[in-house]
Amino acid sequence: MKNVIRVNNLHKIFTMGEVKVNALRGVDLEINYGEFLAVMGSSGSGKSTLMNLLGCLDQPTDGSYFLDDVDTSKLAKNDFADIRNQKIGFVFQGFNLLPRTNALDNVELPLLYDRHNRIQNSHESALQALETVGLSDRIHHEPNQLSGGQQQRVAIARALVNNPAIILADEPTGNLDSRTSIEVFEVFQALNDSGITIILVTHERDFAKFAKRIVEMKDGVIIKDYLVKDRLFASDLKNNHSDQDDL
Ligand SMILES: Nc1ncnc2c1ncn2[C@@H]1O[C@H](COP(=O)(O)OP(=O)(O)OP(=O)(O)O)[C@@H](O)[C@H]1O
Ligand SMILES: [Mg+2]
Repeated sequence: MKNVIRVNNLHKIFTMGEVKVNALRGVDLEINYGEFLAVMGSSGSGKSTLMNLLGCLDQPTDGSYFLDDVDTSKLAKNDFADIRNQKIGFVFQGFNLLPRTNALDNVELPLLYDRHNRIQNSHESALQALETVGLSDRIHHEPNQLSGGQQQRVAIARALVNNPAIILADEPTGNLDSRTSIEVFEVFQALNDSGITIILVTHERDFAKFAKRIVEMKDGVIIKDYLVKDRLFASDLKNNHSDQDDL
């Protein structure tokens, strides 16, 4: 299978005045199309730093990052931004939706920023993305009129609307209870089944089992990388989940 992501000896040093923080100290990682990867590791181990580099939100201090066989370090600033807009969708822990802006407009927004206008019918595309996450009946609701899980699904629809090859999600269920988290994982698993590569950070070992592969980080390097044997399926769990269950 072809790599969508190939990272070699990735280093990231943050300099704050006199102090240098070695956030990544030589990460090697290959991810194929269609994978569903969970990144785990204690606080400060470099998970978000890695996600920001994979998402072309930041550049490494050293090492190489090939995205779809493109060496991202060789890209001019505009091309770097374009590759991010075209290939990657982001989902954040805090949803990051615009307040006082309904779900439909929140989802449509990234298309209005696309300087290449790759997607012509932005309104239709936004409706379609909201349908994919099961929110066709909430398109005119503003964020404060939606539950946490619904807000996160709007954020997933927004990440989807550009037709990305990859979705990157940094603790997407960090603000949600376990029942709602399972609903969100159901959406991620369905998207992965449709071919989208998913990389997500989670602190919960149980939630990592919704993925197909787990990478564990410590002190800026990957210390473990293995396939999930006893994978969980959110659609099964949802049906027999009760509030008393841990998961
Ligand atoms: N912009 C920054 N400037 C300076 N130091 C930073 C910056 N971002 C991260 N760091 C440092 O880099 C290290 C890795 O941070 P990172 O945010 O990647 O950890 P994390 O694994 O995502 O942790 P958490 O689970 O708490 O989110 C930490 O020591 C952090 O303090
Ligand atoms: Mg983090």
